[in-house]
Amino acid sequence: MLDKIPIMSDTKILIIGANGQLGSVLTKALKEKIGAENVVASDLFKKDDFEGIFEIIDATDITVIQKAVDTYKITQIYHLAAILSANGEKNPLRTWDINMKTLFNVLEVARLSGIEKVFYPSSIAVFGDNAPQDNTSQAAYLDPATVYGISKAAGENWAQYYFMRYGLDVRSVRYPGVIGYQSLPGGGTTDYAVDIYHKAVLEEEFSCFLNKEEVLPMIFMEDAIRATLELMDAPKESIKTRTSYNLAGTSFSPEEIVSSIRKIYPDFKVKYEPDFRQDIAAKWPNTIDDSAASKDWNWKPSYTLDEITKTMVQKLKEQYNIQ
Ligand code: SER
Repeated sequence: MLDKIPIMSDTKILIIGANGQLGSVLTKALKEKIGAENVVASDLFKKDDFEGIFEIIDATDITVIQKAVDTYKITQIYHLAAILSANGEKNPLRTWDINMKTLFNVLEVARLSGIEKVFYPSSIAVFGDNAPQDNTSQAAYLDPATVYGISKAAGENWAQYYFMRYGLDVRSVRYPGVIGYQSLPGGGTTDYAVDIYHKAVLEEEFSCFLNKEEVLPMIFMEDAIRATLELMDAPKESIKTRTSYNLAGTSFSPEEIVSSIRKIYPDFKVKYEPDFRQDIAAKWPNTIDDSAASKDWNWKPSYTLDEITKTMVQKLKEQYNIQ
């Protein structure tokens, strides 16, 4: 009888920021895709329930990134660590330092180690007052009003610079607000759209920090992960945008998400108590034109608001053990 030949993968991925809202789900998806033995997760600390290869990496220290890349013969880096929009405003210079330093470290390690591909997330936060809010185009003017947005706009240009100057294959999307049941967001302006579902299934009142009519671009986690993997799998020649691709899922306001939730929980109570995050949201787009992503790598979102609501409610009920 022949011995079973293990499937060998040449791809070895390092994920920086693997504890985060997206990082944790992306880590799982990548492990399923290429095998857990080929994925190295990293963050500032290891979560107790994490299974797989994990390294403690503070990405502001280039030597620890380099060591992990050398030790595991890493071929791709997904750099997801960043301080988000709302938290970033509490300490602007620290946010700039961390968001930029970690990016420069990743780009430099990647360049010097011959890394084949880098993923760097950008955000709808790159847009500001001078971009049209409806159907905001790929090439719309970027005048971000948060330090997070400024760091992402700068980061996109650095990604493009490393591609043009050194041929480093850095790929990026401008994520809308990401909604998922698997993990919690931390310190963003779009976080309300995750928190609201937790309150709904727990049958508690929700206090919304945005105005009820503030429409923002959002995307379901499944779509966000699929977009990331599809972008990273696309042939190099089809990636025409080397800053960052606009990416759309669906768009809605707090009152629309509330209506969607009330189809399942008719008595769901909400009060509106807008805070500084409303000012951030007011400058971001309502809807996104992602035709470049659809043309270059066939992007197509699949979840509507009601489908997101149905899945969120069902999955969170399972998690909270609610019948
Ligand atoms: N979801 C992020 C935030 O709200 C935007 O990228 O900061």
